[in-house]
Amino acid sequence: MGKSTGLRVVVLISGSGTNLQALIDAASAGAPFRIVAVISNEPDAFGLERARRCGIPTAVVNHRDYPDRPSFETELARAIDIHDPGLLALAGFMRILTPAFVARYLGRMLNIHPSLLPKYRGLHTHERALAAGETEHGASVHFVTAELDGGPVIIQAVVPVLPGDTPQTLAARVLVQEHRIYPVAVRWFAEGRLQLGTDGRVYLDGQPLETAYRLTAGA
Ligand code: GRF
Repeated sequence: MGKSTGLRVVVLISGSGTNLQALIDAASAGAPFRIVAVISNEPDAFGLERARRCGIPTAVVNHRDYPDRPSFETELARAIDIHDPGLLALAGFMRILTPAFVARYLGRMLNIHPSLLPKYRGLHTHERALAAGETEHGASVHFVTAELDGGPVIIQAVVPVLPGDTPQTLAARVLVQEHRIYPVAVRWFAEGRLQLGTDGRVYLDGQPLETAYRLTAGA
């Protein structure tokens, strides 16, 4: 499997797209999914260039072109559904989604967030973890639900907070781990091993996950 077979994944981005790249690389290396389109709300997102280099179709749905969030999302959903995805992967997509949009893709939309959820939902996670004196930090992949960064967590990567860390050094350490865990979660989903249960819990291999699967840096 790889480029031409497997689960159809549409990736939503707003920026650099390094997590997108990790997913592209995993698919190229034989993971059982393929990126069928990359959609950005930011016309200049470098992730669009990454997609083009790999021959992946791209689209821009610029939120500034729409009078309100619902009309933006109507166009976004149209751009997504053309590609008939089995999974929507948010990878640094910086728009808040309405409950209606979330409901449309519930159970088939994942996000990666740079903190050990439920800690530090929202923005500036690295700054906040440092300010709080955390000794460990990390990233989480979760199913997207209507609650911002509040959906059930599938897999996390943990990194140490080191003396002298700045938000930038900590972000870089976390990002390396993001690139490890996102392809794992998408692979599990593609293999049919991962579900969002009707009870709102994550199921892996038919069993509810009591706690998120955890990878430790270096492990
Ligand atoms: C990552 O830290 C991701 O977790 C967050 O935004 C950043 C995006 O990075 N949501 P990239 O665009 O994948 O390089």
